[in-house]
Amino acid sequence: MMEEESRAQAFIEAGERISSAARINYVDLLVDHARGALVYDADGKAYIDLLASASTANVGHCHPKVVAAIQKQSERLLHYIPSYSYQSQLESLAERLVDLTPGDFEKKVSFSTSGSEANEAMIKFARAYTGRPYLISFTGAYHGSSYGAMTLSACSLNMRRKMGPLLPGIYHMPYPDPYRRQAGESDDQLAERYLDQIRLAFETYLAPEEVACVLIEPIQGDAGIVIPPQAFIQGLYELCQEYGILFAVDEINQGLGRTGKLWSIDHFGVVPDLMAIGKSLASGLPLSALVGRSDIMESLGSPGHAFTSAGNPICTAAALATLDVIEEEKLVQKTAPNGAYVQEAFQKLQAKYPHIIGDVRCLGLNAGIELVTDPETKERDSQAASKIMTYLFDHGVLMVTLMGNVLRFQPPLMISRDLLDQALERLDQAFAALDRGEIQVAEDVELGW
Ligand SMILES: Cc1ncc(COP(=O)(O)O)c(C=O)c1O
Repeated sequence: MMEEESRAQAFIEAGERISSAARINYVDLLVDHARGALVYDADGKAYIDLLASASTANVGHCHPKVVAAIQKQSERLLHYIPSYSYQSQLESLAERLVDLTPGDFEKKVSFSTSGSEANEAMIKFARAYTGRPYLISFTGAYHGSSYGAMTLSACSLNMRRKMGPLLPGIYHMPYPDPYRRQAGESDDQLAERYLDQIRLAFETYLAPEEVACVLIEPIQGDAGIVIPPQAFIQGLYELCQEYGILFAVDEINQGLGRTGKLWSIDHFGVVPDLMAIGKSLASGLPLSALVGRSDIMESLGSPGHAFTSAGNPICTAAALATLDVIEEEKLVQKTAPNGAYVQEAFQKLQAKYPHIIGDVRCLGLNAGIELVTDPETKERDSQAASKIMTYLFDHGVLMVTLMGNVLRFQPPLMISRDLLDQALERLDQAFAALDRGEIQVAEDVELGW
């Protein structure tokens, strides 16, 4: 154990050459390799991965099919700038995404290298198509770290400090959090209360006919896996229809089977005009896509969104193989029952530790377990969450936090029941140790965003 700690520690203490701006401090993992749902550190210690590299490893780490596709492609062509050439694989991937995304209408695709850039594309296409200047996103949202995507985001001051002014013309509306609803409020009432705030904006300071697009995470990831009432998403969609505003969704974190459906918007019964996809699309290789109605995707013209490496052939090969694996291994179909299984386990855990676990939100293999100092006040308990994260890390389970106090559960979708059970058992042990006051963490170190 000491030996294992000292390796990572020695590495860190040797002095980092990577800017702290690129790092989010959780645990001292010196990652070496990974297979399936297991990650190994430099000392060969295995961790059950409940993070899936931030939801980029939905098909599991180093899936043999994905690895083989990358190897094969790397011998044919490493790169030829896709915006200057035609590449049949890229066309096939576009075709595949058009077929897999909701909407019985003509669609086209624009590729980028990161989720952030897919959302940059969203801003460009929405403004170009509508000729309108303003966009709406939501508090708690995370859409990326480039200037436009960061402006759309609103989940961390640390991510915005010292960088202003940001992109003009973006408004944030409040996102409904069912855990923090008013006493006695139904889902529909909660939805209406939040829709009313948008209606108020449209009546008082934001002319709806000047709004190009509403961009939303149908389930907010970095805000703590927040699942809004269905009536909110439907009401929002209707408002967009009423004013000719494009309805766009960010599926970068929650898409590709994570929630037990292929897309998280599929839980809400509405069809978006634009959808951003990334992360697991190419099993974590740098590739993202914006899929949208053809007329919107043709509104910018050449070269409105062209990059040297967007649609790189290795990434494209990885994406095609990843989509094959999702289909062949029926990962979406398997995720729904696995999700129900863990949800029950989390609810039992909550019943055992009701003074610590304020809320459990789970849809598919996608959960937020919210820790509070007091279930009455719902005050966030970031220290307790850091302690659980630290205990789990010491005991071979990788799980990080969201918003400081929410445990993030997003394992690879192919994880076995056996590994899930092992992880759940260690989680139970972690809460028991927390309850007995046995876990120590440094009080002055801020973990997470
Ligand atoms: C919902 C969502 N959108 C966008 C992004 C940004 O993606 P990237 O980090 O690939 O730029 C993320 C990344 O965490 C995300 O979770």
